[in-house]
Amino acid sequence: MSMEPRVAAVLERLEQRSKQEQSELSELNTKGARFVREAAGRFMLDVGADVGRLLNSLVRALGARRVVEIGGSVGYSTVWLAEAAQATGGRVVSFEIDAHKVEEMRQNLSDARLLEHVQIIGEDASLHLASLEGPFDLVLIDHWKDIYIRDFDLAWPKVRRGGIVVADNILAPAATAAQLQAYVAHVRAAPGARSSTLPLGQGIELTQRIDG
Ligand SMILES: C[S@@+](CC[C@H](N)C(=O)[O-])C[C@H]1O[C@@H](n2cnc3c(N)ncnc32)[C@H](O)[C@@H]1O
Repeated sequence: MSMEPRVAAVLERLEQRSKQEQSELSELNTKGARFVREAAGRFMLDVGADVGRLLNSLVRALGARRVVEIGGSVGYSTVWLAEAAQATGGRVVSFEIDAHKVEEMRQNLSDARLLEHVQIIGEDASLHLASLEGPFDLVLIDHWKDIYIRDFDLAWPKVRRGGIVVADNILAPAATAAQLQAYVAHVRAAPGARSSTLPLGQGIELTQRIDG
């Protein structure tokens, strides 16, 4: 996949950082989800390169112009989404509740020259999802696992026919397995949904709207 050098450089820098964070993160994960959450401000908690590449391809394949990201962190997945949104003439709305991470995300997107393709909302996604203009072509859910279902339910009515919701961490870490099992069961019962788990990265659930 060829990328503008500025975009490739930001992705490479963030992938290096993510690699450095992995051992501390694994240790915290074995202690329990609460420990990761308490330290979350220090970690990227990114989707990884394989899922990043898939997200980029999905935006392009769908011709997605309205992309929503719930949990942008410092912008790793946002860069993958925004690079594709630039090609489709679309825009990414990225929610990130941590003000410090919002600043890091802004800087990373600016370094990649992608800032103009992203609207960053530095607040709880649930405050805005219901009033956000739809329809949504692609939604990435990657924030706290106990609120996946809440925010899926807010986003799903606005997903267009053929549109896709991607949720991360379906297969790992083990600490949040029960919450993710509940999420998978929930989306598979959603009206008009066809959904399956792909063993990519930490496992993603890909839910496509086939009605409406
Ligand atoms: C797993 S990280 C996101 C990683 C990012 N998608 C990536 O691949 O680089 C989850 C992020 O969700 C944010 N978050 C948690 N609850 C949120 C909420 N209600 N609304 C918006 N962001 C939230 C956290 O601050 C954290 O940075």
